[in-house]
Amino acid sequence: MQTHEIRKRFLEHFVNAGHTEVPSASVILDDPNLLFVNAGMVQFVPFFLGQRTPPYDTATSIQKCIRTPDIDEVGITTRHNTFFQMAGNFSFGDYFKRGAIELAWSLLTTSVDEGGYGFDPERLWATVYYDDDEAIGLWQEIAGLPAERIQRRGMADNYWSMGIPGPCGPCSEIYYDRGPDYGVEGGPEANEDRYIEIWNLVFMQNERGEGTSKDDFEILGPLPRKNIDTGMGVERIACLLQNVDNVYETDLMRPTIDAVAALAPRGYSQGNAADDVRYRVIADHSRTAAIIIGDGVTPGNEGRGYVLRRLLRRIIRAAKLLGVDQPIMATLMVCVRDAMGPSYPELVADFDRISRIAVAEETAFNRTLAAGSKLFADAAEATRAAGKSELPGAQAFALHDTYGFPIELTCEMAAEAGLQVDELGFRELMAEQRNRAKADAAARKHAHADLSAYRELVDSGPTEFTGFTELSTQARILGIFVDGKRVPVVSHTGRPESGGDAPGRVEIVLDRTPLYAESGGQIADIGAILGTGSSATARAAVTDVQKIAKTLFTHRVNVESGEFVEGDTVTAEVDAEWRRGATQGHSGTHMVHAALREVLGPGAVQAGSLNRPGYLRFDFNWQGALSDDQRTRIEEIANEAVQADHQVNTFVTELDKAKAMGAMALFGEAYPDQVRVVEIGGPFSLELCGGTHVHNSAQIGPISLLGESSVGSGVRRVEAYVGLESFKHLSRERALMAGLASSLKVPSEEVPARVATLVDKLKSAEKELERLRLAGARAAAAGAAAGAQTVGRVKLVAQRVDGPMSAGDLRSLVGSVKSQLGADPAVIALIAEGDGGSVPFVVAVNPAAADLGLSANDLVKAIGSAVDGRGGGKPDLAQGSGRNAAGIDAALAGLRAEIARS
Ligand code: SER
Repeated sequence: MQTHEIRKRFLEHFVNAGHTEVPSASVILDDPNLLFVNAGMVQFVPFFLGQRTPPYDTATSIQKCIRTPDIDEVGITTRHNTFFQMAGNFSFGDYFKRGAIELAWSLLTTSVDEGGYGFDPERLWATVYYDDDEAIGLWQEIAGLPAERIQRRGMADNYWSMGIPGPCGPCSEIYYDRGPDYGVEGGPEANEDRYIEIWNLVFMQNERGEGTSKDDFEILGPLPRKNIDTGMGVERIACLLQNVDNVYETDLMRPTIDAVAALAPRGYSQGNAADDVRYRVIADHSRTAAIIIGDGVTPGNEGRGYVLRRLLRRIIRAAKLLGVDQPIMATLMVCVRDAMGPSYPELVADFDRISRIAVAEETAFNRTLAAGSKLFADAAEATRAAGKSELPGAQAFALHDTYGFPIELTCEMAAEAGLQVDELGFRELMAEQRNRAKADAAARKHAHADLSAYRELVDSGPTEFTGFTELSTQARILGIFVDGKRVPVVSHTGRPESGGDAPGRVEIVLDRTPLYAESGGQIADIGAILGTGSSATARAAVTDVQKIAKTLFTHRVNVESGEFVEGDTVTAEVDAEWRRGATQGHSGTHMVHAALREVLGPGAVQAGSLNRPGYLRFDFNWQGALSDDQRTRIEEIANEAVQADHQVNTFVTELDKAKAMGAMALFGEAYPDQVRVVEIGGPFSLELCGGTHVHNSAQIGPISLLGESSVGSGVRRVEAYVGLESFKHLSRERALMAGLASSLKVPSEEVPARVATLVDKLKSAEKELERLRLAGARAAAAGAAAGAQTVGRVKLVAQRVDGPMSAGDLRSLVGSVKSQLGADPAVIALIAEGDGGSVPFVVAVNPAAADLGLSANDLVKAIGSAVDGRGGGKPDLAQGSGRNAAGIDAALAGLRAEIARS
């Protein structure tokens, strides 16, 4: 049975049983504790915890899941995937254990003809939490499972939680016996390769707190209701129903293996176990990468971006080790699209972007791989030469920092070279780097390391933002925080009443505010919070506004007078001038974005932006630099749209409707169902955006692009000034031009021609200078050669050279003298007075002189000691430098004597 059919049957089974079908969430959900969604239940957590009321009692979904902790197992075992599809059914206070067991059992064992999966009931086993007699009874009653095919297991295996605080509960897992070819008898307790887990039924009934491991965490108490969360591994079911040995050979992954095999000298399944693992790694990782990119991640050096980069780089490396000597990523992305597209249309719709990002990483990595491999080889060589077997952490760090080598790659390459890596040293250096970055960020912003102090306010509801329509709002103080701790009062000393002797970081939370909190690339408003009534003298300057948990605004303030008390009514005001600049910056960003897409096409996808009063920058996915023409067009189009004085409209609508209108959204952002759309000039610019904007485009004022640069592989950045800043920028440029014109004594419009003439003149002067220098050098060489003396059997030129000379000049002079002296034994030694009191010297010995036992290397040493310096080199040419010009004559005399002795 094909995977798409397995998925279809699952959803149909549960929809027929009254469940609401819910689409998979993005693999990126807004939870800082979770890098990627790793289970079907993640999007339902608030329902389990009773924080939100679910719009249905029962639901079913097939969730895209990413699990990378076991990445090293991929391809080695038969069942580990970094991306997999978890089919699940969920009950929020509706059915419990009985319903879950009945529904799972019937789907697994109903015959294929009747819409089920047709598993042989005799081959199914169940495990239960060790004291769950109720579940044991139900398995016996509903499925007729004999007691010997039900195993009790402890907390580590049969008590499920997300690994972090949240809902949890005992679980019961269903296993399929693949038969004696796969391992020993004895059920899942004995062997999990033979008895393969296919479905986990979690009886979600408690809430867990912090803990240290799977079987060590605090149970805080029961959830408001008893729930069901189940997860069936679609790939594992496919592996069994398609009768293949492992998940990588199922219908959605096998084509990738075959496509790679067509390009590799050695095929799949030809008896080379290491090769087979590489094939499976490629098949597994390429679809994970496509899915992650599809949900908005781009390769990077931190967090999700790093996971993606690591996956892509592992693919490239595996392909190289298989002997594939051509770029492979484009082929892989096509395989993934074709296999997965029917279930994941977004992979088809967004294919060009996904493929471009993956291919760009391949191109960049191939370049760095070439450069980094050289560094690695040198480091490995040096390690061996030093008689060591461990590559220093600093080398691994340099490879990571300069060439983007994941540490795992360095370890793999080291292992191939018979070396280990000082991973501890590497991690220490990484931690140092991270701490530096964190310290930077913390210095800039609030650092809410501990959010628990704000939790109560977050839970009490979002801050109402009034700033779209007003700049001054009456509000109530909901909370005051000093250094992240809640206090009842704060006074102008910045000191909380509760003590402390240094003014700390003071934050005020209001129920409503007109001050914009940094988000969507727009930096926070500045303004003030003013006391009212009896505390009318209180005043706090707002220097920053940040959001906590996306909903709660905290105002970072300096209390300038009076005191603020929790519960006070205050007036919050935005600095109007600042806001005007901020709206220009943000609307300007939309104009530049729209203009970019008009010039470059829809491939120029936004990858981040920042705007503040007067300035904006905009990053977008694009290969290669923009041409001058493209830059000029972008600037023109943006300014024409300003000039057209379009009205700026904002409205709130459903996400689907906004997308259907063509509104641009940022990949990777989780948008709510209701979204705000900002429209400028109709279809010209239509974006999902929560920022503050001008009312008419002319209010943006002039936009001047500052240039365009690269900010990482496949990502470009444009920067621009807007409004008055743009005028000031142009005015500075004009002043610069006027200054140039006056220095060059020509009118401004003649500056370019004048500069071109000057550059030409400079070039000819440099040429002439070089000609003279060469002629001088030739004359000097001829003079020096003519002054050759015969000392013993050797023609010797040993001279002091006039004029400051560099070692390089001296070397070429020595070379020309040597070539003029012919084949008889000859030694040339020239000493000069160089820059800054240095005394460079060079000695050359021709082959005939070398035959007499003379060595330039020895001779420079003698000179070195006479002029307080050192020298060295090869027997035919050596050089050095000293500091004592007074010793030059003695050095030359010593040399003559030395040669006379030879
Ligand atoms: N949450 C459980 C799991 O991930 C069942 O869906 O295994």
